[in-house]
Amino acid sequence: MTFKIKVNEVEHEVDVDGDIPLLWVLRDVLGMTGTKFGCGKALCGACTVHVNGTPMRSCVMPVEYIGESAVTTIEAIGDTPIGESLQQAWLDLEVVQCGYCQSGQIMSAAALLAANSEPTDSDIDGAMAGNICRCGTYLRIREAIKQAAETSPTSSSQGD
Ligand code: FES
Ligand code: FES
Repeated sequence: MTFKIKVNEVEHEVDVDGDIPLLWVLRDVLGMTGTKFGCGKALCGACTVHVNGTPMRSCVMPVEYIGESAVTTIEAIGDTPIGESLQQAWLDLEVVQCGYCQSGQIMSAAALLAANSEPTDSDIDGAMAGNICRCGTYLRIREAIKQAAETSPTSSSQGD
């Protein structure tokens, strides 16, 4: 069956079964391999994308449920002010170890900062709890989110 899905502001027609998870459409059909497969059971967060701005686990989201929703992936998050600030903070603080989980981490962090421009440590820990990092980069992730919160153009602390 053919589905029209909008990914990173671009409409795509994909000819797949409706119950195929969005993750596999992104990776195998559209060639967007920035979003990773970890557990396949909505447990690790590696496959996190935004659907209408909400972080979702694409490994368990059938493509037929996307409809007209806007999907945003790691390939485009850097085009947003929050995403740009996050990616800069990730570089400045050398957050990444093996890197495998980090696309999902940044997508969850971007959704957090969009909803809460000045998150506390517990806000960060709560929002990021579903993203597992086998390399244990959690403390650097938290610091990078704090830096991004301070430097993002949407931060209310800008210009104070
Ligand atoms: S691969 Fe989707 S949550 Fe683990
Ligand atoms: S950096 Fe290796 S799993 Fe997170």
